[in-house]
Amino acid sequence: MRAPKSLSMRRTQIFGITILILALLIGGAAVIIDGLRDPAPRSVATRTSGTISIGGPYALTSHTGERVTEASFQGTYPLIYFGYTFCPDVCPTELQDMAAVMDELGDAASQVTPIFITVDPDRDDQEQMAAYVEAFHPRMIGLTGTEQEIATAAKAYRVYYARAPTDKDDDPYYLMDHSNFIYFMGPDGQNVDIFNGQMPIEEMASRIQAALPN
Ligand code: NI
Repeated sequence: MRAPKSLSMRRTQIFGITILILALLIGGAAVIIDGLRDPAPRSVATRTSGTISIGGPYALTSHTGERVTEASFQGTYPLIYFGYTFCPDVCPTELQDMAAVMDELGDAASQVTPIFITVDPDRDDQEQMAAYVEAFHPRMIGLTGTEQEIATAAKAYRVYYARAPTDKDDDPYYLMDHSNFIYFMGPDGQNVDIFNGQMPIEEMASRIQAALPN
């Protein structure tokens, strides 16, 4: 026979259940919000499989107005990220990390070219890119282009991007869904390494350092 529960026991139970439901709701909301912003998984494999080629020809316009191609960076080690300047959180974090990696590399950073390629050319024109990249690192190069030029570059790097659905078709504050990787390229344009967004700065720097000639 069960002993009748005391009032305080019931209160404790109800309190516990309420907390559990709240935790589930908050957790679910966090996952949904995160998914809306940058839905690409941050924890997939960080290395090329050897069968998938990353990189290739592109022609874009730099934040200083020059036309550039992949050949413009030959002889340096490009560190490339695709995103957009209106990104509320993930892109700024990744670009800050890239700038921190440059600092961590010290003198060796002179061999590395940090590059930010927009997936939102409608809003990210040359002026917008200039103001943005200069806020992160003095040597960071911003690249934009026509929709077709951006599509070509993104395809070469296997980058996924799409405009997130909004209530209004003409909403100027739309978000872009996009994949979230930093591509470390060699001086010959070949992919050397891929870093996911969660990798610590020290690890990125040491993996880059290991690939650089002394
Ligand atoms: Ni972003």
